Amino acid sequence: MRQAKILGVGMQLPERIVTNLELESMPELDTTDEWIQQRTGIEARHYTAPGESGVDLALPAAQEAIEKAGLTPDDIDFIIYATLSPDYFFPGNGCFLQDRLFGDRPVGALDVRTQCSGFIYSLTTADCMIKSGLYDHILIVGAEIHSTGLDFTRRGRDVTVIFGDGAGAVVAGPAPGDQSGILTSALYSEGKYARELWTEYPASCATSRLSHDILDQGLHYPKMNGRMVFKHAITRMSEVTHEVLNKTGHTVDDIDVVLPHQANLRINQMVAAQLGIPEKKFVNTISWTGNTTAATIPICMYDALKNGRLKENDLVLLVAFGSGFTWAASLIRW
Ligand code: UT7
Repeated sequence: MRQAKILGVGMQLPERIVTNLELESMPELDTTDEWIQQRTGIEARHYTAPGESGVDLALPAAQEAIEKAGLTPDDIDFIIYATLSPDYFFPGNGCFLQDRLFGDRPVGALDVRTQCSGFIYSLTTADCMIKSGLYDHILIVGAEIHSTGLDFTRRGRDVTVIFGDGAGAVVAGPAPGDQSGILTSALYSEGKYARELWTEYPASCATSRLSHDILDQGLHYPKMNGRMVFKHAITRMSEVTHEVLNKTGHTVDDIDVVLPHQANLRINQMVAAQLGIPEKKFVNTISWTGNTTAATIPICMYDALKNGRLKENDLVLLVAFGSGFTWAASLIRW
């Protein structure tokens, strides 16, 4: 069976940078730069301009990934688009991106809704499609707009300070030979914890999807049991890392680079300690991006490539945890 590998990576962040100090200057939010930095490692994040959509961010990231892969849009057979913040309730963002990228050429598009693990779920889906021979070149996007849906009052400050907007994209395709590429992946969900990190409304299962009462109570904002998410993240990210290593006959010492989800710098430091992997092998972008959920890993990958931290033949671990709960890992021979 042929292997699949990542051929090109792209990234797009909105122009506007929002520092912790800007958040600190909002009296109703009641937060400080010191608290945010100490508890999360975040110094700044990016917010979209009014009217700028998720697909507006995804498009240049996708174009860059296609170009870096040495391909043109005509070579792309399928789109997988991971986001928890689609531009509209329906249709999915993949359809809007198909229009912007390919115009009159119909291309299949699948939206993936597994939040912070969305990129790894998408990559794994692409890996299987390429390995099976169904498609050759698949565009995988992780893109989010959080800033238009955050509660900028004290009630929502724990969630609001951690999220940022952004997009990352990769193109995956067949790997020449069988030594490089995506080696294995593991994907999990545990829905009993779904309400520990979620946005309840608008809800199709409610009598009224949205009401003035819902808005007044702020039930349309994301809610998180931060401490519980934090604890589960460390356990599950470590566990799933051991699983992909065991499946491929590797040990933690074999890992050259870790591209982890960027939810909280302290989570990644604790995962590094628990696994016994030196922190210097972890690529972290959270200080300048905040948490961009499905976009975090491709952004991290982009940053690692740009800074020469990701080299041919490296053994690379992707690992994520988030809302659902969902968690996932992939092991790649770069
Ligand atoms: O990507 C999705 C997955 N998400 C995650 O993995 C996030 C996991 N959780 C976390 O990263 C952390 O739980 C947070 C950064 C969200 C919160 O940090 P924490 O150390 O768990 O704080 P906490 O929620 O236990 O709150 C400690 C204190 C509370 O005050 P009191 O009750 O001790 O007086 C909070 O009200 O910090 C207060 N607090 C804040 N203070 C200033 C909470 N948020 C803020 C804030 N600014 N933004």
